[in-house]
Amino acid sequence: MRKNIVAGNWKMNKTLQEGKELAAELKQLLAGAKPACDVIIGTPFIHLVTVSEELKGSVIKVAAQNNADKESGAYTGEVSASMVKSTGAEYVILGHSERRAYYGETYEILKEKVLLALKNSLKPIFCIGEVKEEREAGKQNDVVKAQLEGSLFNLSKEEFSNIVLAYEPVWAIGTGLTATPQQAQEIHAYIRGLIAAKYGSEVAENTSILYGGSCNPGNAKELFSNPDVDGGLIGGASLKAADFKAIIDAF
Ligand code: PGA
Repeated sequence: MRKNIVAGNWKMNKTLQEGKELAAELKQLLAGAKPACDVIIGTPFIHLVTVSEELKGSVIKVAAQNNADKESGAYTGEVSASMVKSTGAEYVILGHSERRAYYGETYEILKEKVLLALKNSLKPIFCIGEVKEEREAGKQNDVVKAQLEGSLFNLSKEEFSNIVLAYEPVWAIGTGLTATPQQAQEIHAYIRGLIAAKYGSEVAENTSILYGGSCNPGNAKELFSNPDVDGGLIGGASLKAADFKAIIDAF
């Protein structure tokens, strides 16, 4: 059966010291608790080692927010999937709309990043979702389908079973606007249907599909109660330990 997951995406926030403190605070809040979901925090690269060490003995797992589309070599400023893996991180967030919009990450580039992540035993948390104009034009299903076909549906069934998906409508990210539970359920079910058509119903049933976009302690429970919403990818609310814990407790 698929896992419920609450994953934090710190984005470009927190100094190393602040990040270490936040991780320690979360570890303490969750100590002794048995969360009804897997818990992951996605930190900037420079935090990965420190946070992974800080979280030893806790249920919380660590994700990077990117890996290079090249294996190694003369790519100044880039960080490879094998480097990420060597920090202790187990997951990597790929395909986030901010990477697509501001850093020109195309379907092809993301396809390479996913392959390298998998090759290095990292589990991608792969983000898909439409912008506001696409939603207004009723094109959200076409958009997520193209994103899946463009970067993931080249994978074998076995490879795909390591993917966590995050549906993140771009108009809901950091805006305070949230998809209604019904909008989320509708498109999550559609996405699961696409996976079933490509890889069969067993793979589809086992794939965790998270919702992301202004998810907070006030709306998490209603969003997560949908049958096809298996948790959340949390930006802003993951920067405060109490809020993130409250979202975990929504399960
Ligand atoms: P948000 O970000 O929760 O701040 O809207 C979600 C995300 O971008 O992953």
